[in-house]
Amino acid sequence: MIMFKTSLRTIGVMTSGGDAPGMNPAIRAVVRTALANGIRVIGIEDGYEGMLNGRFREMGARDVGGILQRGGTILRTARSMEFKTPEGQRKAIRQLSSAGIDAVVIIGGDGSLTGGMKLQEQGVPVIGIPGSIDNDIYGTDMCVGVDTALNTIVDAIDKLRDTASSHNRAFFVETMGRNCGYLAVQAGIICGAEMAIIPEYETPFKEVAEAVEDAYKRGKSHCIIVVAEGAKLNANELAAKLQEMNVGFDTRVTVLGHVQRGGKPTAFDRFLATRFGVKAIEFLLSGQTGVMTALTGRDITPIPLATVVNNRRTLSEEYIKMARILAR
Ligand code: ADP
Ligand code: F6P
Ligand code: MG
Repeated sequence: MIMFKTSLRTIGVMTSGGDAPGMNPAIRAVVRTALANGIRVIGIEDGYEGMLNGRFREMGARDVGGILQRGGTILRTARSMEFKTPEGQRKAIRQLSSAGIDAVVIIGGDGSLTGGMKLQEQGVPVIGIPGSIDNDIYGTDMCVGVDTALNTIVDAIDKLRDTASSHNRAFFVETMGRNCGYLAVQAGIICGAEMAIIPEYETPFKEVAEAVEDAYKRGKSHCIIVVAEGAKLNANELAAKLQEMNVGFDTRVTVLGHVQRGGKPTAFDRFLATRFGVKAIEFLLSGQTGVMTALTGRDITPIPLATVVNNRRTLSEEYIKMARILAR
């Protein structure tokens, strides 16, 4: 095993997995806080793919100027199958060692943090920053990017409601969330949707049909059903079936897709990402590694990566109940 020094002279920073608005402010905070503490920073491009292939570049204070308001990630991101293999991980560790990188800050989702834990287990000090619009990471109240994505969804659904009520239509709106219904439930509550269909619960088709029909009978001018991407019932199929059943409303589908991943980060995401970035360096300086920066209440706390990746985040029952009650 390659031994990493306990002194901290040079760190790497990278973004990995699905991008999320706010990753840039996190990179900026990591770079500038490290530099302020006399630590050199190397940007690792293209996630683990770049780590494996030595795509490294020096990051100065000016390199992270003008990026606070930019969506995406200036370091770019990628998915790497090779890094999942033990040989791939050894190759990555050799690259880090030969570039003199003593520790790495990884900004990404649950997969990226699992990769980070693997590095830590093999002697590379790692700090994780949760970045994913899905809000599916255990241990933190919020991930970087969630608030911006939700605001994009709200904007889209508000617009869809305008046209839906003009035409007396039911819209099935698909949000992202391969395994997690967080965005769909929150959007359901704050956009006044009739129903949110999520991967965590099996919603019988009959229940959806009744909700749409009932909304029509109660004289609603429109009906909005939010469907998470990973839910068993699919937005297109639902719309087609209900159109055929003639439940009153004409039906339409809007898949929001990757629009939800882009755009300038909201004030909340900029500040959260900035706090995470600053704390990541503070944790490193105090010798706390193998942890993720987590928002717990109002504080940013270190949570062991092993706890993060070995637990599943569950949705708040309270919010699911709230969505149901308010949909009347
Ligand atoms: P996210 O970080 O957004 O959840 P992915 O799940 O695609 O995105 O993970 C990003 C990358 O993290 C993967 O392409 C892979 O290189 C690495 N990774 C994911 N899971 C593991 C794992 N079990 N072991 C090692 N590396 C992993
Ligand atoms: O992990 C975030 C996420 O937005 C998921 O909800 C979605 O399924 C996935 O990324 C899609 O990512 P891509 O198209 O980049 O593979
Ligand atoms: Mg993920």
